[in-house]
Amino acid sequence: MARHLITSAIPYINGIKHLGNLVGSQLPADLYARYLRARGNEVLFLCATDEHGTPAELAAAKAGKPVAEYCAEMHLVQAEIAKGFRLSFDHFGRSSSHQNTTLTQHFAGRLADAGLIREVSETQMYSHADGRFLPDRYIEGTCPNCGFDSARGDQCDNCTKQLDPVDLINPHSTISGSTDLEMRETKHLYLRQSAMKDQLETWIEGKTDWPILTTSIAKKWLNDGDGLQDRGITRDLDWGIPVKKGDQDWPGMEGKVFYVWFDAPIEYIACAQEWVDAGKGADWERWWRTDKGAADVTYTQFMGKDNVPFHTLSFPATILGSGEPWKLVDYIKSFNYLNYDGGQFSTSRGRGVFMDQALEILPADYWRWWLLSHAPENSDSEFTWENFQASVNKDLADVLGNFVSRITKFCRSKFGEVVPEGGEMGAQEQALIAAVGERMAAYQTAMDAIEVRKAAAELRAIWVLGNEYLQSAAPWTTFKTDPAMAAMQTRLGLNLIGLYATLSAPFIPDAAAAMLAAMNTGDAGWPDDVAAALTALPAGHAFSVPEVLFAKIADESREEWQTRFAGVRT
Ligand code: MF3
Ligand code: ZN
Repeated sequence: MARHLITSAIPYINGIKHLGNLVGSQLPADLYARYLRARGNEVLFLCATDEHGTPAELAAAKAGKPVAEYCAEMHLVQAEIAKGFRLSFDHFGRSSSHQNTTLTQHFAGRLADAGLIREVSETQMYSHADGRFLPDRYIEGTCPNCGFDSARGDQCDNCTKQLDPVDLINPHSTISGSTDLEMRETKHLYLRQSAMKDQLETWIEGKTDWPILTTSIAKKWLNDGDGLQDRGITRDLDWGIPVKKGDQDWPGMEGKVFYVWFDAPIEYIACAQEWVDAGKGADWERWWRTDKGAADVTYTQFMGKDNVPFHTLSFPATILGSGEPWKLVDYIKSFNYLNYDGGQFSTSRGRGVFMDQALEILPADYWRWWLLSHAPENSDSEFTWENFQASVNKDLADVLGNFVSRITKFCRSKFGEVVPEGGEMGAQEQALIAAVGERMAAYQTAMDAIEVRKAAAELRAIWVLGNEYLQSAAPWTTFKTDPAMAAMQTRLGLNLIGLYATLSAPFIPDAAAAMLAAMNTGDAGWPDDVAAALTALPAGHAFSVPEVLFAKIADESREEWQTRFAGVRT
């Protein structure tokens, strides 16, 4: 049994994610995890919340809560929504865990011992009233370029000019409003990525099978300006992992924390420890240490394109630089952006559909199907309500749902709710079995290659084959002259439902479960042999007609949602 480690980029704790975030990492990772499990692999699928950094502090302040409390609450909210979307994480961890604290400090110590960390003195804005250094986005003032009065320390939102906090006229702290600010000297740690450029480059060059999107971004940063830049890995913040060298204090680094992007990917490892400590697993090292069995593991990461530099360069630099036998990623599947109805999803402006809202209006499978079948793989893609309505109504209601409903209802009316007996398969049935077999092979090839859209198209084509068969076999007609033949056709149709449930489960797990429940059977496992799978339900086996699997989306609902999600979240 092959072993697969799968991680999804860990979502920031501040707020509920939109559908664009979902389709860029968690959802395709879940699709792949479900598929690999169904094919009999041993899978460890991990995700977590990314809880440190300025955004978490800002969001907690806005909510009027201590940041630790805010994070604990939002973690539960995100975990619940993940369940709602049927994301089948083996563990949903937290980057603020004690496991991650220890491991992050451990990595920093190893990197320091290897000479891969240097200390740099910088000047940064210090607020006397707040008693802290202010990150750029905590400082506002008048833009020297356009005169806009609430330009941020890093950028003016009005004229888009990139700024330095010292450029601002009349700067003030956004925390206290205080203008009592001064530039002060502070020391930070830098990871010497430049020293590891050749090693990283060789590693990336070897990944000839990775998506172009992934390798092109990695190569761009490897050759940016003078080459790979060293990266600051500490911040003057309260909330985060205290800077230590292993379990030793780090002189000069008192009161500082690691940069959120340093500790977040380390959570992929810590999450496996949390999984064990939560009593869900026995051994995390066989997934993460190549000296303890992880050399046999295939590790796949899922993420949006903005995350690629951190996963192709920074995190590997941490892992390789430690000099310890940690597992490196084998394949990075990255995604472009999903846009929303002619613009971008916007968390700050509440534009687009957020995960909680999506589940309020329709069950998870509707969203899973649309998002995965339109995954932004080769370019950005766009969510429009018209397209969503059309896909749901056609693919799910007309093609799959209608097939299931027609065959079960027909059987009930002519033979009762049992698989009917009699008749022999003929040429038409053999042709169907062969066609399903071919399509299934193509479906598997696409899934193995994590070509998500292609896989969705192949799956849909398998559903279509069933409809076409039913249409041309027409058991309702043959029944009049040859009831035994109609029984055989119906039996095959019912068996197709079982096969469809197994093949469709990675995309639409709830509908698949409903189909199996109606067929009064468990999942027979991934079929080795289509012909055998299509005779699995024997004559005499009782079943029931399921409730409507997918309801069509009416024009009125579509219009209502279109208006509701157009802007400002309420
Ligand atoms: N929180 C980041 C984002 O949403 C992703 C972090 S992924 C990890 O863009 F590598 F840090 F784990
Ligand atoms: Zn400006």
